[in-house]
Amino acid sequence: MQRTPSDANVGLIWPGGEHDAASIREFICGLSPRSQYLRFFAAAAPPSSGLMRVLCGRTGADILLIADRNGAVIAHGMAADTPVTGELASNVGLVVADRWQQQGLGTLLLRTLIGRASRRGIGSLVLDVLPANDRMLGIVSRWWPDAPRQLTPDAVVIRPAITPWQAAGGQAVPGLIKLGRDRPASQPGLAAPGRTAA
Ligand SMILES: CC(C)(COP(=O)(O)OP(=O)(O)OC[C@H]1O[C@@H](n2cnc3c(N)ncnc32)[C@H](O)[C@@H]1OP(=O)(O)O)[C@@H](O)C(=O)NCCC(=O)NCCS
Repeated sequence: MQRTPSDANVGLIWPGGEHDAASIREFICGLSPRSQYLRFFAAAAPPSSGLMRVLCGRTGADILLIADRNGAVIAHGMAADTPVTGELASNVGLVVADRWQQQGLGTLLLRTLIGRASRRGIGSLVLDVLPANDRMLGIVSRWWPDAPRQLTPDAVVIRPAITPWQAAGGQAVPGLIKLGRDRPASQPGLAAPGRTAA
C-alpha cells in the first residue's frame, strides 16, 4: 500500500495491525507525558509487550492509524467490542501526536471508528475519560449531551448510543485525507479533514 503521499498536506488512514508494530511503538514513544497520561492513565513509553498487543489489535480491536506524508504514524484509534449489560458495546480510545492535535484528526478517527463499529452491528460506545481531559469531554458533550456518565475512582465513563447519522459517517478506509489546520467548519461531531480520495 502507498503510505507516503507526495503532497505535504495529505495523509493516510488505514486499519492497523501487527505489521505496523514498529511505527506504533515509535509513535507512542514520541508522545508527551501529558498525552500518554490522558490516553493511558499512566506513562506508556516505551510501551510494554502487553500494551503493544492491544495497540496492534492482537486482542481483536479495530485499529485505525493515520500517517503523515512520510509514513510516520501521527494518530492511533481503537475500538474494542465488549459485552455491556448483555449487549456488545465498543470501547473507544484515541490519541493524536502532540503537534497534530486540534487539527481535526481525533474527530476523524472517532467518526470513522463509530461508522465501522456500527457496520459490525454495534449500537453504543464506552469511553473512559480522565475528569481533567477537557478536550475529550468537550467532544463527548457536544456529540452526546445526554449520554449517561458514571464517575469511577479513575475516570468518567460515558456510554453514548450511536446515532443514525453517526452510524453513517466516517472516512473510507484505507484512504487519503487532507491534513492541516484549514479544515472546513461543520456541525459538531461532523468536523473532520476533507476526504480527498478513498
Ligand atoms: C483528545 C484528542 C484525541 C482529540 O483529538 P484532536 O485531533 O486534538 O481533536 P480535534 O481537532 O478533532 O477536535 C477537538 C475538538 O475539541 C475542541 N476543543 C479543543 N480544546 C478544547 C477544550 N479545552 N475543551 C473543550 N473542547 C475543546 C475543539 O474546538 C474541537 O472541536 P470541534 O471539532 O467542534 O472543532 C487529542 O487531543 C489527544 O490525543 N489528546 C491526548 C490523548 C487523549 O486525551 N485521548 C482521549 C482519551 S479517550
